[in-house]
Amino acid sequence: MPLEIKENVYWVGAIDWEERDFHNFEIPRGATYNAYLIVDDKVALVDTVKHKFFGEMLRRIEEIVDPREIEYIISNHVEIDHSGSLPYIKKIAKDAKVIATEKGKRGLCKYYDCADWEFQTVKTGDEIKLGKKTLMFIEAPMLHWPDSMFTYVKEDKLLLPNDAFGQHIASAERFDEELGVEEALYWAKVYYANILMPLGNLVNKKLNELSSLEVDMIAPSHGVIWKNPAKIIEAYRKWANFEAEEKVCIVYDTMYHSTTLLAKAIAEGVASKGVEVRLFHTRNDPWSEIVAEILDAKVIAVGSPTMHNNMFPPVAGFLHYLKGLKPKKKLGVAFGSCGWGGGAVREINKMLEQMGFEIIDEGLEVKFRPSEEELKKAFDLGVKIAEAVKTK
Ligand code: FEO
Repeated sequence: MPLEIKENVYWVGAIDWEERDFHNFEIPRGATYNAYLIVDDKVALVDTVKHKFFGEMLRRIEEIVDPREIEYIISNHVEIDHSGSLPYIKKIAKDAKVIATEKGKRGLCKYYDCADWEFQTVKTGDEIKLGKKTLMFIEAPMLHWPDSMFTYVKEDKLLLPNDAFGQHIASAERFDEELGVEEALYWAKVYYANILMPLGNLVNKKLNELSSLEVDMIAPSHGVIWKNPAKIIEAYRKWANFEAEEKVCIVYDTMYHSTTLLAKAIAEGVASKGVEVRLFHTRNDPWSEIVAEILDAKVIAVGSPTMHNNMFPPVAGFLHYLKGLKPKKKLGVAFGSCGWGGGAVREINKMLEQMGFEIIDEGLEVKFRPSEEELKKAFDLGVKIAEAVKTK
């Protein structure tokens, strides 16, 4: 069933309950691909869905209008989770004009045979009148790709920002209030951390630009629709500025549980000072959720056993992923166990320095299994970490 989200504006997207991997971003709760149909004197479809859900989108559209009546297909973003059904709907709505940025047009024509498509390219501030409703376009490069743009329905104060403000969660609920605003914000944080964390400066600029618009609903192309736009805008501002909570994330892996013992002792030391601490295991916990917790943590403690004078491969892989997300304003510390020569702590420190972390301790490396004395050192390291959280 389609859902009317504003008068004559309908959600006609698809729910992907099965997907667990979005270009290597683990999505344990699935995804949605939101497309919106705006019915006025002229009919516009804003974005489409992944191609395998074309039939689902088409059925929803057919409940509202004859799809041949679509006059505009607005492509806010080329990525195929949004454009995948465009060639198929274009075969039905043969005369529909495709609206995209110049880069969007170029991208679409690289993915699809667009020889017969009529395009209208748009820039920030350009408008299309559908009848009573006016669509205004806002370029949003790198949110998420260079071609991205937002569509704003002026009369409805409705922002359709494609990937921005999205969440990867499959749900029967379509609105933040139905899912629960806190849950929606959590999945928005996971999404932001894995997709937009490196782009905080651009996010901030876009938020400043949006502040001149009246927005009373944000309908992204993934997840639930925000009836409470102020909450997600405020969260985006906080995340874009790396505003940290008094929180420590301990991320580790282990061969024979020695590094686990150190991680737990460090966590006890942190908690003894009343500072929030979370432990994550790089093979048991989804990286997508670990980086979401890192986004607003002050200190990241990374633990690894040594293997071949280096980090344990899952820890190295995780740090490689984290490095690409360019976290800022973080304090770091390394710990781990080794059999003889060591090396993991040295390599973790190097990696944390490359990421611009402030290293607050040279780190703790113990041989084989930690002794009681070494566990006490780990606890004390936790206390030192907690003090750094409160003072730095
Ligand atoms: Fe949801 Fe950048 O695609």
